[in-house]
Amino acid sequence: MDRFEYRSGNLFVEDVPMADLAARFGTPLYVYSADTLLTHYRKLATAFAPLNPLICYAVKACSNIHLCKLLAKAGSGFDVVSGGELYRALQAGADPAKVVFAGVGKTSPEIREALAAGIGGFNAESISELTQIASLAREMGKTARVALRVNPDVDAKTHAYTTTGKKENKFGVDIADAPAVFEKFRGVGGLSLHAIHLHIGSPVNDVTSYTRSIERGLQLIDALRSAGHAIDTIDIGGGFGAYYKGDEAPPTADYAAAIVPLLKDRKLNVVIEPGRSLVANAGVLLTRVIHLKPGPSKQFVIVDASMNELIRPALYGAYHFIWPVAAGQRVPGSRGPEQPFDGLQKCDVVGPVCESSDFLAKDRMLPSVQQGDLIAVYSAGAYAMAMASQYNSRPRAAEVLVEGASARLIRRRETYADLIAAELEPLPG
Ligand code: LLP
Repeated sequence: MDRFEYRSGNLFVEDVPMADLAARFGTPLYVYSADTLLTHYRKLATAFAPLNPLICYAVKACSNIHLCKLLAKAGSGFDVVSGGELYRALQAGADPAKVVFAGVGKTSPEIREALAAGIGGFNAESISELTQIASLAREMGKTARVALRVNPDVDAKTHAYTTTGKKENKFGVDIADAPAVFEKFRGVGGLSLHAIHLHIGSPVNDVTSYTRSIERGLQLIDALRSAGHAIDTIDIGGGFGAYYKGDEAPPTADYAAAIVPLLKDRKLNVVIEPGRSLVANAGVLLTRVIHLKPGPSKQFVIVDASMNELIRPALYGAYHFIWPVAAGQRVPGSRGPEQPFDGLQKCDVVGPVCESSDFLAKDRMLPSVQQGDLIAVYSAGAYAMAMASQYNSRPRAAEVLVEGASARLIRRRETYADLIAAELEPLPG
């Protein structure tokens, strides 16, 4: 699952004690394991090898350039959703031909930047956007390679806020309307509409939701091909699960076992856009207890990390396993909420931010902790730092990458000066 393991009662990341990292870099601190990230990448590549897919890491999950560099070196492409993500991917050494650009609202400057960089393709979501891409490409004397994102109306059985493939969602073109869209853009200059794109949500722990949406996509491709459209690529999106409680996500091999046979002999290039499944378990958010405050029915454990560093519990009611770094005899055997130890205390783990939604865990049974103790918040590699904010004027936390016994800072902690820098520069107008 990952390389965050207890040795003699103390939490290590690969060969480095987490407590050493806190002493060296301070808290709150995002700690990433390079080996975990690359192992997950290789597992996915191996499981889907019969399709020889282009794996495009979804930069939005965790966009630190050093993690992107590791993945680029391993051969990964990148799924980007903004000019900023494109910039990051290119700076990380991405091969532009292995970059796909998604999102419902790309601006003209962003599209021009992507065309100038020579990206592999756009995933377009509306007639309006196809018209815009075609006209910008013609202006630049280029032909944009484009996949049409279709909405297959398949329930991914995940949180409403991260469900994207149902009729009522803003994403894609209704699958029933797709043939007419392909017809409308047949032969239009500046555009090679050669692919379809599906992404039904995140995380999708139900393999049949994938197979259902891919089957619908394949039916569409058959219809398009019989109508004379040269479709050579299917992008099946991301959304593979990660381990928060430990066993909720099917193993990568199970996704592949269901998906590979569907796509194997279809004469299609396959693109996959994994984010969470690669990076969620590669990161832990390390935080320190500031205060303990007994409440009427539970203990408030007030820590120096907050909804700023990890908004997922506040936004989606998401569960993240939490446990003291120095666990002594109480080394957890699983990442579930139920732990088999005596003397646990019901706790809310909360941050210093002035909102009742500022919690990392509610009603969690934890060993008793003291002021100054270190606590690990697990599965914080994906959609943690990437969604971090400076709310309450709290500088964003640092990030550290561990490779074996070595640890290096890959993003310095922000300072108070950073908080106001963009407000003080000579401002135009
Ligand atoms: N492709 C597309 C078109 C996407 O919209 C996404 C994620 C991905 C790929 C990558 O999905 P992944 O493999 O990471 O599941 N903030 C939420 C998740 C939002 C996902 C947005 N789109 C969370 O923290 O759960």
